[in-house]
Amino acid sequence: MTTISLPLSRYQVDSQIAAAVSEGLLSRPKWLPSWLFYDAAGSRLFDQITELPEYYVTRTERAILAARAEEIVERAAGEQALRIVELGAGSCDKTRLLLRAAVDRQDTVVYEPVDVSASALAEAQERLESEISGVLVSPRVLDYTRDFTLEPPYPGERRLLLYIGSSIGNFEPGEAHRLLENVRTALIPGDAMLLGVDMVKDQSVLVPAYDDAAGVTAAFNRNVLVRLNRELGADFDPEAFAHRAVWNAAKSRIEMHLESKEEQAVRLPAVDLRLDFAQGETIHTENSYKYRPGQAESMLRSSGFAQEETWTDEKGWFSVCLARAV
Ligand code: TRP
Repeated sequence: MTTISLPLSRYQVDSQIAAAVSEGLLSRPKWLPSWLFYDAAGSRLFDQITELPEYYVTRTERAILAARAEEIVERAAGEQALRIVELGAGSCDKTRLLLRAAVDRQDTVVYEPVDVSASALAEAQERLESEISGVLVSPRVLDYTRDFTLEPPYPGERRLLLYIGSSIGNFEPGEAHRLLENVRTALIPGDAMLLGVDMVKDQSVLVPAYDDAAGVTAAFNRNVLVRLNRELGADFDPEAFAHRAVWNAAKSRIEMHLESKEEQAVRLPAVDLRLDFAQGETIHTENSYKYRPGQAESMLRSSGFAQEETWTDEKGWFSVCLARAV
């Protein structure tokens, strides 16, 4: 009798995923990169998170933009026409507020969303072009965390680059700074940037925002394991891991972890790994840094921007900063 070992090519292993998963799960403490969250199921769960009663982030930023869209567009444009560039194509309903304000002012506006996902871009294009006449979508499939360049603007056009949704908070402070420097390099003097940042607040507000009663964020966190089962042939039991959201005051960040409920072993055949978990051992899956007043502005300044204006909500929970490339 012959024993046939199953060929690893059974799995369509994406080399970027394989490398990142091996690196993270062989580290101590174990971690996984947060971009793994966003497969189709994860993106759907994230949309649900934005509507949760505990998740104040999206709602608060949207209210600021709704109240200030005209003013933001006016300030950013000056005497020129605006082209609106956005990092990520995921925040349609917030972007729409700014696109409407731009169309009211200048009749037509070019919208250039930058995203790694061609399907997310196609969806944004279809939605926005059919909903707002005067918007011309010019999508770019790019990983903006690496180097990126932008389309040249039309003569007399000035860019407003949106980085909203507090996505900057998912980067380590040094990485966030480098990202802003890269953005600055892709712009020319006079272009503007609008940055949305979530602020430090009491942990009785912060923790439930990342650990909701309905368990949607828990499902979002565990979906990473579901994904590794599907894509790497792993045998994680997602229910054997508890969702943990922790406020790390010293580092000013919410941390998300998956905590092993028991001692267990997990196999990931496509990357040739067998992992042991102690009871209570965690996989660190995400950070969401929260900023103090003035911090985002000083990071913008040291990245080559002049700070122009910061808008916030009544409670000071979220800030939207407008800065000018100098
Ligand atoms: N950047 C947002 C935040 O940190 C959205 C986000 C990213 C998020 N990953 C998340 C929200 C995980 C909830 C859970 O809040």
